[in-house]
Amino acid sequence: MTTNTIESVLNENRLFPPSPEFSQNAYIKSFEDYKQIYEKAKADPESFWAELAEKELHWFQKWEKVLDWQPPFAKWFVGGKINISYNCLDRHLTTWRKNKAALIWEGEPGDTRTLTYAQLHREVCQFANVLKQLGVHKGDRVGIYMPMIPESAIAMLACARIGAPHTVVFGGFSSEALKDRLNDAEAKLVITADGGFRKDKVVALKEQVDLAIADNGVPSVERVLVVQRTKEPVTMVEGRDYWWHELQKEASPNCPAEAMDSEDMLFILYTSGTTGKPKGVVHTTGGYNLYTHLTTKWIFDVKDDDVYWCTADVGWITGHSYIVYGPLSNGATTLMYEGVPRPSNPGCFWDVIEKYGVNIFYTAPTAIRAFMKMGDGLPNARNLSSLRLLGSVGEPINPEAWMWYHQVIGGEKCPIVDTWWQTETGGIMITPLPGATTTKPGSCTLPFPGIIADVVDLDGNPVNVNEGGYLVVKHPWPGMMRTVYKNPERFRNSYWEHIYPKDGQYFYFAGDGARRDEEGYFWVMGRVDDVINTSGHRLGTMEVESALVSHPAVAEAAVVGRPDEVKGEDIYAFVTLENNYSPSDELMKELKDHVAKEIGAIARPGTIHFTDVLPKTRSGKIMRRLLRNLAAGQEVAGDTSTLEDVGVLEKLRGG
Ligand code: WT7
Repeated sequence: MTTNTIESVLNENRLFPPSPEFSQNAYIKSFEDYKQIYEKAKADPESFWAELAEKELHWFQKWEKVLDWQPPFAKWFVGGKINISYNCLDRHLTTWRKNKAALIWEGEPGDTRTLTYAQLHREVCQFANVLKQLGVHKGDRVGIYMPMIPESAIAMLACARIGAPHTVVFGGFSSEALKDRLNDAEAKLVITADGGFRKDKVVALKEQVDLAIADNGVPSVERVLVVQRTKEPVTMVEGRDYWWHELQKEASPNCPAEAMDSEDMLFILYTSGTTGKPKGVVHTTGGYNLYTHLTTKWIFDVKDDDVYWCTADVGWITGHSYIVYGPLSNGATTLMYEGVPRPSNPGCFWDVIEKYGVNIFYTAPTAIRAFMKMGDGLPNARNLSSLRLLGSVGEPINPEAWMWYHQVIGGEKCPIVDTWWQTETGGIMITPLPGATTTKPGSCTLPFPGIIADVVDLDGNPVNVNEGGYLVVKHPWPGMMRTVYKNPERFRNSYWEHIYPKDGQYFYFAGDGARRDEEGYFWVMGRVDDVINTSGHRLGTMEVESALVSHPAVAEAAVVGRPDEVKGEDIYAFVTLENNYSPSDELMKELKDHVAKEIGAIARPGTIHFTDVLPKTRSGKIMRRLLRNLAAGQEVAGDTSTLEDVGVLEKLRGG
C-alpha cells in the first residue's frame, strides 16, 4: 500500500463498518445494541451507572446515593467505600489471573521485565509500606517524577493503596515546572529515579528534583525516594534522600488496601489553561475507577488473551487511565515501553508489536503522522498481524493519517477508535465502540453510553447540522474532574461559565469547537481558546510567553500555534526586544533554549519572530487571531477594527 493510493482514495464520506468477525466477539456487538444501551443510559443515567458499579467493581461498602449534583460539583457513589488498587490487583489474585502477566515492560536499551498480578501486588504492597515508613499518611500528596519504568505504576498504585493522592509530573518537564506543581500540591514526598533513557540520552531526573527543592524551593517536601535506573552518579542528601531498592527489599509485603471513601481524592494532574498557572485537575476514587474500567472494556474490547499497548507516558492522563488504572482494573495485560521512535531506531514501535504480539495499540495522531513521513518500509518489515484494534487520541486525526493507520498498520482489518476526551474528563467521552460503530476517517463518532454530549451556541442551544459550535457535556458522569485543586472558583469559571443555557442548566464546556453531521457524528475542530496542542501536548500560550518574558532581552511575547504536518501545531513566538538588545541568530537560539529550560523541551518554539510591535486591541489585549494567520502565512482574516494601530500588520508582514 503506498501513500499515493491513500491520497487518491481519500474521501471523508467513506464508511468503515466493523467486520462481522470483530462484532461477533466484541462486548458490544452491534449498532442496535449500542443504541439500546445508549438510550437506556440517557433515560436514567444514575441507574445505568449504579448497575455497572455493582457488577464491575469490588466495594468494601455500598454507596448510599448514586449521584449528588450541586452544580458544578458532583459526587458519585456517595458513602461507598472502595480502593482502586484493590480493584486493580487483589481481586484478580483469587482467580486464575493470579499468575497472568499484568505488566510487560521494555526499556529503551532493550532490558525487559514482566510482572504477574501476584508479583505486581507484592511490589505495590511493599512499596506502600515504604511510603508509610517514611511518614506518608492517608491524604498526604506524593509527587512522582519518573521515567517510564514499572516503578512508576507501582508508585501510583501504592499511593492509591494507602490513600495518598499522587501527582505525576511528566519526566520531560524542567525543574521549574516541577517546582510549581509540587508547591501547588504541597507534596510531602517525591518519588524519582537517578535518570531515565530518552532518545539514546540519559535524562538526569534526580538532578532536576534537587534543583526544584534546593534552597527550600518546595518547603513541603520532606523526603525523596530514588529508583536506580541509569546508575549514573547522583547526590544523595543524608536523612532526606533514600534508595527505593534498599527500602523495598526490607519492607513487608503485607499491606491491606485502605477502604477509601468513594469521593476521596485519588490524584491531582496538572494541565495548562489559558492563564499562566497550570490547573490541578482533581480526580476522586469510585467514579474514576468505574469510568476508566468500563471505557477500557467496551472501547478497547480487551479480552484475557490480549496484549494491550498504550504508547502514552504515565505523566499524562492517558497513561493514568489507559496504561495503569483502566487495564489493570480489567485484569488485562498492559504493556509499557520506555522508548520513543528515535534516529537510532525509528521502527521501534513495530519491533515491540511483533516481539510481544500486541493485539490492541493506542497512540496519537502526531506519532502516526511522523511514521507516515518515514514511509511504509519500517512497518512493512515487521509482522503486525497480531493487531486487531487500533486507537488514536490527543487531537483530531486528519483523514490521510487515519487512512494510513488503517491500511499500513491495521492491514485494513482493524477497527480504529478515535477517542475524544481530556485530562478533565478522566476517561474517553466520544468514541466508536469497535464492534458496533461504523467509523468515518477524522470523526470521533458518537458519545459513550451515559455521556450526554452536544454542540451548542453560547446560549446552549444545539446548532444546525454541520454548523460549528461549542462541544459540551450536559449531564455529570462518574469520571469527571471534581474541582481545581484548592481553587473551586477556577473550576467553576474555567468550565461552567462559558455557555449559559436559558433554563438555568449547567453545561460542561470542554474548550473545543466541533460540528455534528447528518448522522450526529462529532467532528472536533480543535481548541477555541489560546492553547497550543504540539505533538499531543497541550500547552498554554501564557506559560510559554511568561517563560520568554523572563529572559532579560525580551520585552513582550505573543505565542501562537502554527499548523505543522507532524506536530499538529508548532510553537511560533512573536517577540519584541528591550532597547539595548537587537535581533540575532544567537539570541534566537538562546531564547529557544531558555524556554526549553524553563518549561521543558516540548515547549521549545520552532520559530522566534522578532518584531517591533505586537497587534493589540485598545484595551491592550494581544490579538492572537491575527498572529495565528500571520504565523500560518495566511491572509489576515476577519475583523481588524478593534486593532489599536492598523499599521502594525504591515510592519509584521515585513518583519
Ligand atoms: C484536548 C485535551 C485526553 C488525552 C490526551 C490529551 C484534544 C484529545 C482528541 C480527539 C480531537 C482531541 C482536544 C481536547 N483531543 N483527543 N480524539 N479528537 N481532539 O489530553 O492534554 O487534556 O487535551 O486534546 O482539544 O480538549 P489533554
